Amino acid sequence: MTEYADDLVAAAVAVRLCAYAPYSGFFVGAAIRSEVGIHAGCNVENAAYPQGNCAEAGAISAMVAAGGRQIREVVIAGDGATPVTPCGGCRQRLREFGAPELVIRMVGVDGGARLVRTLGELLPDSFGPDHLAPDSSVRG
Ligand code: THU
Repeated sequence: MTEYADDLVAAAVAVRLCAYAPYSGFFVGAAIRSEVGIHAGCNVENAAYPQGNCAEAGAISAMVAAGGRQIREVVIAGDGATPVTPCGGCRQRLREFGAPELVIRMVGVDGGARLVRTLGELLPDSFGPDHLAPDSSVRG
């Protein structure tokens, strides 16, 4: 059953169809809601396999290029028996612009809900930008 729960889900489902995945055949779409709008990305593979990019990385790049710096919500659309959760590297990429409370929704190819997690659940005790924030106690 087609189920477009909202604009972010629709964006992730739609951009997934643009994926360039001739090697894995595994299409993924990601959509981010930031303080400046919605940003979509799909996976882009490469004949030199390690050079491929995940859908989430593409969506983050689109967000930054649009001037966004705060990830407020994420939807990932993918196929298969198991919900497509972000890979380890993308969890860290999302952490750069998202708080541990950030909600990440995994949906199927038709937008149907499959799994909901916070970034903190997917990446507990994470290292983030706060760790590198200037320490006023050191500078006096
Ligand atoms: N992939 C993503 O784009 N996002 C994920 O969260 C998991 C995996 C892509 C990378 C590769 O192009 C394909 O899925 C198979 O791993």
